[in-house]
Amino acid sequence: MTSKSMTRPSVDKMPTYVPGKPIEEVERELGLSGIIKMASNENPLGPSKEVRQAVAQAIDRIALYPDANAYYLKDTLAAELGVEPANLLIGNGVDDVIRILAETFYQPDDEIVIPQPTFTMYEAYTLLGGSHPVLVKSKSGWGNDLESLKMAVTDRTKAVFICNPNNPTGTIVREPELKVFLDELPRDILVILDEAYSDFADDPNFPNGLRLQAQGYTNLIVMRTFSKIHAIAGLRLGYAVANPQIIALLHKVKDPFNVNSVALAAGVAALNSKKHIDLSKELVQAGRRQFYGELDELQVDYLPTQANFILIDLKQDSKDIYNYLLQNGIIVRPTHSFGLPTCIRVTFGTAEQNDRFLRVFRDGLKKLRNGGI
Ligand SMILES: Cc1ncc(COP(=O)(O)O)c(C=O)c1O
Repeated sequence: MTSKSMTRPSVDKMPTYVPGKPIEEVERELGLSGIIKMASNENPLGPSKEVRQAVAQAIDRIALYPDANAYYLKDTLAAELGVEPANLLIGNGVDDVIRILAETFYQPDDEIVIPQPTFTMYEAYTLLGGSHPVLVKSKSGWGNDLESLKMAVTDRTKAVFICNPNNPTGTIVREPELKVFLDELPRDILVILDEAYSDFADDPNFPNGLRLQAQGYTNLIVMRTFSKIHAIAGLRLGYAVANPQIIALLHKVKDPFNVNSVALAAGVAALNSKKHIDLSKELVQAGRRQFYGELDELQVDYLPTQANFILIDLKQDSKDIYNYLLQNGIIVRPTHSFGLPTCIRVTFGTAEQNDRFLRVFRDGLKKLRNGGI
C-alpha cells in the first residue's frame, strides 16, 4: 500500500506535519531524564484541579458512547462566550475542525488563501481535499499581511485563513486592519480566524472574532482550542463559532462521536477554572518579560509576542542550537518546516523552566559565537 500510484495524488502533495518531539522519544533516544518540553505551546502548569477531578469522575462513563451533540459543553461554552449553542461545533481539537471545514466546503477548483508562515494544517487539509492552497508570503517575512492576502483573492477563492496570534511568529493583526479586510472581502468567501492563542494576547487593539461576528460578519468562522490555556492538549478538544447555517453543515460532516466523553467533561471544568486561567495568563506574561530581558542582554533577535511562545532568530541555521538544547534535555521547536530555518520557537515554561532554558541557551550561544557547538 505504499506505492505512489495507489495513493490519491492529493495525499502525495500533503506536507508532513512535524510535531514537537515527545519527552518519551528524547528519553529513549538520548538516554536522558529530567527533560522539559518547550516545543508545542502547551501549558506548563498542567490542568486545573477541577479538570483533574472531572476527568477522574468521567472515567466511570467511558463504557458508553459520548454525547454526540456535546450538550453540556456547548451550554457552558455558549454562556461563557455570549453565543447560542447553535453557533458551536465541538471538535477533536482544532485540527479536527480544520478538517471538517475542508470536507464541508472545499471543492477541487477552489483556492484557499493561506498566509506564510503559519500553522501547517491549513495547507495540509486543503491539499487532502484536492483544492489549491494559495500560499501568501507576508511582506515582512513574519506575521500576517492582510494587504497581500487581499491581493491573492480571486473568483475561485473559497476561504482565507488568518491565525491570530500567528503560529509560529506570535505576531497579530489588529482590529482596525482586520475590519477593513473583512469589509472589502465578498461575503461569500469564508474567513477562518484561528484564535488558538487569543487568550494570551493583551494588545489593546487585539480583535475579538466573536465581537466581529456580532457586528454582522456572517462569513467569519472563529476557531479556539482547549489545548493551550486550558492545558488539555492530550484530551483533544477545540471548537468553531459561526453562524447557525454554517454550523449545521459542519455537523453533517463531523464524525458522530468525534469528541470523547472525558474531554467533554474536562472542557466544562476547564471553563469553570477561572483562577487557573488567570494564573496561566500571568505565567505567560512573566515569561515574556524574562525572555525579553535576557535576549536583549544577549543581543539576540526575537519577535515581540502576543502568544505563549517566542520566535528567536539565530541568523544562521538553528539546528546546532536546537541540538545543543536537546542534548541538555530541553526540547524546543526548530522552524525549518515553517520555512524559517534560522529560528527556533520556544514555549514559555514555569519560571524554573525558563531559567534553565535561558542558562543553556546562553551557553550554547557563546559556543556558537566562538566558532561552533
Ligand atoms: C494555530 C494553531 N491552531 C490549531 C492548533 C491545533 O490545536 P488543537 O490542539 O486544538 O488541535 C495549533 C496547535 O499547536 C495551533 O498552533
